[in-house]
Amino acid sequence: MSDPTIIEPFRIRSVEPMRFTSRAEREAALAAVGYNLFGLRADDVLIDLLTDSGTGAMSSEQWAALMRGDESYAGARSFERFHAVVSELTGFEHIIPTHQGRAAERILFGAMVADGDVVPNNTHFDTTRANVEYQGAEARDLVCVEGRDLQLEAPFKGNIDLEKLEATLRDEGDRVPLVLVTITNNSGGGQPVSLENLRRVRELCDRYDTPFILDACRFAENAWFIHEREDGQSTRTPREIAREVFRLADGCTISLKKDGMANIGGLLALNDAEVAARCRDALILTEGFPTYGGLAGRDLDALAVGLQEVTDPDYLRYRVRTAAYLAEKAWQAVVPTVRPAGGHAVYLDAGALLSHLPQTALPAQALACELYLEGGVRGVEIGTLMFGRPGVDGAADEVAPHELVRLALPRRTYTQSHVDYVGEVIAAVAERAADIPGYRIVEQPRWLRHFTARLEPLPTA
Ligand code: F0G
Repeated sequence: MSDPTIIEPFRIRSVEPMRFTSRAEREAALAAVGYNLFGLRADDVLIDLLTDSGTGAMSSEQWAALMRGDESYAGARSFERFHAVVSELTGFEHIIPTHQGRAAERILFGAMVADGDVVPNNTHFDTTRANVEYQGAEARDLVCVEGRDLQLEAPFKGNIDLEKLEATLRDEGDRVPLVLVTITNNSGGGQPVSLENLRRVRELCDRYDTPFILDACRFAENAWFIHEREDGQSTRTPREIAREVFRLADGCTISLKKDGMANIGGLLALNDAEVAARCRDALILTEGFPTYGGLAGRDLDALAVGLQEVTDPDYLRYRVRTAAYLAEKAWQAVVPTVRPAGGHAVYLDAGALLSHLPQTALPAQALACELYLEGGVRGVEIGTLMFGRPGVDGAADEVAPHELVRLALPRRTYTQSHVDYVGEVIAAVAERAADIPGYRIVEQPRWLRHFTARLEPLPTA
């Protein structure tokens, strides 16, 4: 067979029914939660592409591992197994489990970032940005030029702009406590960062004596892209590549709800003993003892297995193909997306599709609402609702650089026919794009407003 279909590399042995709703039911449900998709009951959603975080299916080996969980408060065997796998994968000296990624961020930034500092990154994800800003520091996004051009086809659009990084390190001096690089670049379309770029970041961090920390939630998908796209890397396994990538950095924060292949978990890993000691103190205060860090022993065991399964080439080939396949469905419906497709998600370009709406009318939120109303598909807005800000003292509201709707694919959860259906929903919405109304915010909190804001549709002309 030449070019066979890339099939799901697993069989299904346990199933979860989905609940179908009518359009009228979805209209009522969405109005009741103030047009914020985070407010919906999962039961009112048919295909949930809100996030790939903690929403995947575990393997039979992971379920078996759960039964081996050792729930000892201190020194559990589960921690030893988790530690051994993380240590082989990352090579870091100090391995600190946390309940999820943002806990690792809060603890690390609490120990390393001070008021007035500048933290460079390719693009900060929302919780990462909020945790940097919470310390009184500036979160500075320095993604490369290609990464800012949504439609451009380029292999490594997640790369950090090395010139801007160097200028930041030179000009801000001691105000840069660490350099972050997010792999893959979630807020920038799930785009990968090349090995070459990461090596250059290492050199710059050495030159300016600044720690280099990876935000490595999707390290395996990033390694697959390096294997597929980077010169000289196709003969290396994703595992070998991932091991090298971690060894370029001084530490990492990871939400293990992504490439940890489990439903909960996080990691903070460091080589610096003094910083690690301060982080462990903070961990004990808020997360738990350092050998469980807010997780059950069984979670650590599921993660120890997941962190091995995730670098399987058959899995990664299928994983990345799923997102590319969904992107092709969108293109067939003449819906622009960030190109190329990301590893874990497809990002629809709502700004381009709903060009009749100004950014202040929240086009990405409008598209996200419409996908739900049309077919019960829940995505997430990554635009002005997430990254904009209300104007202060009568100034205009700040808008986001792009208006995207992310359709994130939970790992090993949906089949090809589910993805076909999502493609049909996108096509149906695209046909009546010009009639889709904008939205305005009627209520919002100070931090991370997209989670809890309430909105209402704007009257149509
Ligand atoms: N960093 C990145 C790049 C992320 O994508 C996330 C989470 C985090 C940090 C925080 O991890 O949720 O375990 O506390 N991203 C999820 C998403 C929520 O939907 O993309 P967490």
